[in-house]
Amino acid sequence: MSEPVAFLHALSQALATMGLYGDGHPAPARAAALAHERLEALQADDPRVRFTFLSGEVLFGDEVQPELAGWEWSDRFADVGVERLEFTGPVALGQLERLLAHLAARVGIRAASSADAWQSGESPVRLGLVALAGDGGDGAAAAPAIARLSFTLHEEREAIGWIHDEVRSGSRLPLVEADAVVRSLSLAMHSEQAMVLPLLQLKEFDQYTTTHSMNVSVLAMALGEFLELGSAAVRSLGFAALLHDLGKVCIPEEILNKPGKLTDAERKVVERHPVVGAKLLLDSPDALEIAAVVAYEHHIFIDGGGYPLLPGARGAQYASRLVHICDVYDALRTRRPYREAWESERAIGYIESRAGIEFDPTIVRAFVAMMRKWDRIMAARPGPAPTH
Ligand SMILES: [Fe+2]
Ligand SMILES: [Fe+2]
Repeated sequence: MSEPVAFLHALSQALATMGLYGDGHPAPARAAALAHERLEALQADDPRVRFTFLSGEVLFGDEVQPELAGWEWSDRFADVGVERLEFTGPVALGQLERLLAHLAARVGIRAASSADAWQSGESPVRLGLVALAGDGGDGAAAAPAIARLSFTLHEEREAIGWIHDEVRSGSRLPLVEADAVVRSLSLAMHSEQAMVLPLLQLKEFDQYTTTHSMNVSVLAMALGEFLELGSAAVRSLGFAALLHDLGKVCIPEEILNKPGKLTDAERKVVERHPVVGAKLLLDSPDALEIAAVVAYEHHIFIDGGGYPLLPGARGAQYASRLVHICDVYDALRTRRPYREAWESERAIGYIESRAGIEFDPTIVRAFVAMMRKWDRIMAARPGPAPTH
């Protein structure tokens, strides 16, 4: 049995034992001590440990644990809003015992006694929802910390910033990290009972490319699922969408964030990013053809307009046409130095009005249906306001 699995078994065993015996009995204390030992063994190499509980599935870090497929405790935890359990450093036995008492109260094994005080001061234990509808915000901050601990994709955003920096400095595209970000976004989308659209709101202009890449990736995967594409296709769409603007690493900041209109020369520089991006992706040792095609084609119109000009009458590939719509929607929904963010309805209206000219009408129909559905769901959700 692997160490993560051994720890989770010991944890659930301790919880079950707490349900069977009263406080004074030695059995729960023994079970807690065993769970603590297993946790120490698990943290020996790296004290940072993260579990995610989804219905029917457990992840350790980003790895699905096949041994725990269908494990009943995963559902029990997820049902009471414990979708993530994280340890950020060594955990004392007393801290683990308090966590166990809290979990036991939460899953209804025991009455809550001092559940509110289960964590005090700086604790290495984190648990909560993999919330992700937006980037924190007032709603999340006002909710009690125990009930709702938002994971805000900051690490993923930093990872993308780093990936861009690596490519800008001439290093190879860090594929493993890019893939990990896509997995993480996909996980974020499926982490609640229903799917969520974890779109980020732009805070600083210099984060535009990272925020935008993640949002386009999420939108493209959501649209792929809405169109009932298979999971491998959805994942490669997410990957291609994440890297669609990779070529922007060649555009100087002053041009990227210029508040006014671009000169012709500046526009030429911007319009090179599809070609630069495709080259960067094709230079990578692995076959990144779909990503390279999407990077090359995502500004090409269905009527042949846009850029770069495609020789002959061949239109852009399906994946590129899909990413193009998600790309424009997110760009319009984001505040830019030269204009305010558009409301969702206005951005959707624009995309609809350009169906058959700029965008593939069939994909537009699906996109509009999906976004209208999301707008209704997000409007009804408590917590952070919709951010797309
Ligand atoms: Fe682009
Ligand atoms: Fe873009």
